[in-house]
Amino acid sequence: MLLTDGLAIVGGFIVVLLLLKLLWRCWCGFRQFVLSEIWQVDLRTYGQWAVVTGATSGIGKAYASELARRGLDVILISRSTDKLRMVAKEIKDQYGRKTRTIQVDFTEGQSIYPLIAKELQDLEIGILVNNVGMTYSDHFAYFLEAPDAEQKITQVVNCNMLSVPQMTRLVLPGMVERGTGLIINISSQVAVRPQPLLCLYSATKIFVTYFSQCLQAEYKSKGITVQCVVPFLVSTNMTTLPVNCMVKSAPGFAHDALNTVGYSTYTSGCLSHALQDPLNTLTGFLIILQSVALSVLVPDWFLMSSFLIRQFRKLNIWPHLHGS
Ligand SMILES: NC(=O)c1ccc[n+]([C@@H]2O[C@H](COP(=O)([O-])OP(=O)(O)OC[C@H]3O[C@@H](n4cnc5c(N)ncnc54)[C@H](OP(=O)(O)O)[C@@H]3O)[C@@H](O)[C@H]2O)c1
Repeated sequence: MLLTDGLAIVGGFIVVLLLLKLLWRCWCGFRQFVLSEIWQVDLRTYGQWAVVTGATSGIGKAYASELARRGLDVILISRSTDKLRMVAKEIKDQYGRKTRTIQVDFTEGQSIYPLIAKELQDLEIGILVNNVGMTYSDHFAYFLEAPDAEQKITQVVNCNMLSVPQMTRLVLPGMVERGTGLIINISSQVAVRPQPLLCLYSATKIFVTYFSQCLQAEYKSKGITVQCVVPFLVSTNMTTLPVNCMVKSAPGFAHDALNTVGYSTYTSGCLSHALQDPLNTLTGFLIILQSVALSVLVPDWFLMSSFLIRQFRKLNIWPHLHGS
């Protein structure tokens, strides 16, 4: 009798704890994706300028435009001078903000950072968006199938990984000195669970996630916010997918993701992506059910199995994945 009573109390306690946790997460999700539309952080408080890498198309361009719309001057960094000029003009005409452009190719590695440092010096950089990223194959592929593997590996590592700490190193000292700053790092859902057939890309994105989370822990006491954004699918040149209920438009994504600043330092960026995240119980029972169903239907051991990888490869369900 004593034992069953004890077990009942422990069971009841666990259920109450789980319910409280669920309620807390629902509240966080509500604040992050609903209230944030009404009460947005004034991004101008971080400083006058925002720097965006990979800013001439897709998510980067959308972030740059949205930041200008919210009152910041923007520095656009990408590799094509013509596109940079065009986007800078678009932003200037539409939002009346100052723009500057820096033309570099992030695949070139260390050599580009002295130039970027020179262009950024003496500017009050309040926000850095580490967005630039590329894939290494235009379809789901085994690691050894990547074309020009020797060159591509270095390019992907330089672009997706090296750029993040190097750009951070350039702007963080000024932010620490002023006691405020925001660094947004674009990771991916392929970093939440490993993604075979996008092996190198998936691995570079978990680097971005861990770097962001550690940096946030180190610098939050100095007034710096480091936010890691982990999108699912966004309609861009990289995916060439049409917008639908699962695939977000780049401008819509940047708008929603910037609303989450001040509410979360690790976010899917928008509600529809949060609902697709199997590890995210933010929005309550629905997601728990989905999460349980997903982990039962596609458990990690199955996701990583040779059988599933072969089937994926045959189906090639994402044939339009373009390396940028
Ligand atoms: N789209 C998605 O569904 C999705 C999902 C999760 C995460 N992400 C991440 O989001 C980020 C942006 O992706 P996106 O889909 O917006 O890509 P995108 O449409 O291909 O845009 C990439 C941007 O980066 C620039 N760029 C590419 N390679 C560069 C290089 N070597 N040096 C300098 N600039 C370079 C491109 O400009 P130029 O060509 O003019 O240089 C372009 O402005 C990436 O980090 C990606 O991993 C995307």
